[in-house]
Amino acid sequence: MFDLKKYLDDKIKTVNFTLENILISSSDSGRLTDAMSYSLMGAGKRLRPVLCIASAQAVGSKINDDLLNTACAIEMIHTYSLIHDDLPAMDNDKYRRGKLTCHMAFDEATAILAGDALLTLAFEILSSCKSQSYDKTDLENRLIIIKKISEASGCKGMIYGQMNDILAEGKELELQEIEKIHAAKTGALIKASVVSGAIIAKANKSQIKALYNYAHNTGLAFQVTDDILNITGDPEIMGKATGTDNICNKSTYPLLLGIESAKKLSNTFIDNALCSINDFGENAQPLRAIAKYVINRKK
Ligand code: IPE
Ligand code: IPE
Ligand code: MG
Ligand code: MG
Repeated sequence: MFDLKKYLDDKIKTVNFTLENILISSSDSGRLTDAMSYSLMGAGKRLRPVLCIASAQAVGSKINDDLLNTACAIEMIHTYSLIHDDLPAMDNDKYRRGKLTCHMAFDEATAILAGDALLTLAFEILSSCKSQSYDKTDLENRLIIIKKISEASGCKGMIYGQMNDILAEGKELELQEIEKIHAAKTGALIKASVVSGAIIAKANKSQIKALYNYAHNTGLAFQVTDDILNITGDPEIMGKATGTDNICNKSTYPLLLGIESAKKLSNTFIDNALCSINDFGENAQPLRAIAKYVINRKK
């Protein structure tokens, strides 16, 4: 039986070690680094970097520096998005990753700048990846990865989703509109994580397509679960406040469908995700276990 807890513990440890090293070697110590480190080294689940690694493994790749740096750059982009998402002008949240949000622990200006710095540093890291055995294909692949992660993070992906999430406050959206927002604000970076891992592992076109479908469905299930936990979750376990979607009049799946139907939908997404990677063998066990964890998690 595949031991997901052991797998996650091991990968999270490696990711955290790499993130620490990136911070130490890339920034001067001082208030800005303190704020970046405060949020980045908080108790995040590290889902995106772990998915990036697990995707490369599913295609048969070993973990190398290139993969780890890419996975960590994605985590830095994700953390920046959380710092900005929590700001008073956005979701106005006070707790994240089991402690005060960045703007509460520091101040708004520092939180904005820490987010900016994490985003920029991520692309510095992404464009610096280079092992000694790099060939022309590796370099071309690196450019493709940078483009995919830029698109996923920007105005075609996460930021597009964040804008529309805010514009939708107080409105009753149709299911398809909610899905479009979710796929962008959360799904895009999750897809980029999985696809980047696959590209680093030199996956072929049909493998990338299968992994893309896996990630699309897992990303949707992840956000539906986030919305359900915002209603039913325990803030102590989750490390962030609950009931906030209601306060902000957010459009969510459980609001539109009710909690039970939203849970059923998240199960369907995960069935689809698992189906997409049917043809992958034993190497995809981590991806399968992560998909199930995404909807059964308590935080
Ligand atoms: C929370 O993401 C925000 C969403 C995109 C739904 P995570 O639940 O992955 O947050 P961390 O990284 O574990 O803190
Ligand atoms: C956050 O989504 C999405 C991004 C940061 C891109 P939410 O606002 O729904 O997530 P939580 O509930 O604050 O973690
Ligand atoms: Mg938000
Ligand atoms: Mg939020």
